[in-house]
Amino acid sequence: MPSRLKLLKSLEIDAYQLRNISENPDPNGQTDWSIIESQVSTCKACQLHKGRNNPVFGDGDMSSDWFFIGEAPGKDEDLQGKPFVGRAGRLLTEVIFSMGLSREEVFIANILKCRPPDNRDPKPGEVAKCFPYLEKQIELVKPKVIVAVGRIAAHSLLGTDLPMGQLRGKIHDFGNNNIPTLVIYHPAYLLRSPSKKRKVWEDLQLVENILDNDS
Ligand code: URA
Repeated sequence: MPSRLKLLKSLEIDAYQLRNISENPDPNGQTDWSIIESQVSTCKACQLHKGRNNPVFGDGDMSSDWFFIGEAPGKDEDLQGKPFVGRAGRLLTEVIFSMGLSREEVFIANILKCRPPDNRDPKPGEVAKCFPYLEKQIELVKPKVIVAVGRIAAHSLLGTDLPMGQLRGKIHDFGNNNIPTLVIYHPAYLLRSPSKKRKVWEDLQLVENILDNDS
């Protein structure tokens, strides 16, 4: 059993099941995207839908090698319906740029599609309900690398509660396809501790080596 499911089971939380959209006959997957986006736009699986202005589906290149995953939308993201558009988001854009990429060349989403009140941490039940959307997005994008942005995203993705110091600086793997997964400091933390930006740069080099060896 994948480690995330084990963790949810140990918390006695049922993993939420998406309606099966993989039976969709469209060979280029475009229809899958519109189905999942429409499911997210009307989702009432947890209480967070009550306070949202907009769900934040995610955006970017739907066939990128890179899939960045943050925690949850904040105030700006909830208002605009786009991930990482506030102050921390601008820093994430710089991090992406420092790798020679633009935001449009990667895919960005969050563990949760809706903003938790007062930016509190996601609750395990909310993660369990929302996670299948993200899993489907990962399945459709087929990234070569996942970047978990911050501790909370890493915990949900990797089914662990290890501290950041033990998560960053190495390659993990996600899901049945063992997608190489890197954990980096969240840009909101980097805004408070700019000296840690160097560590993010070092961590991203680990992934660039994977992509270089792959091509
Ligand atoms: N922080 C996140 O983790 N995600 C966002 O989209 C914005 C801020």
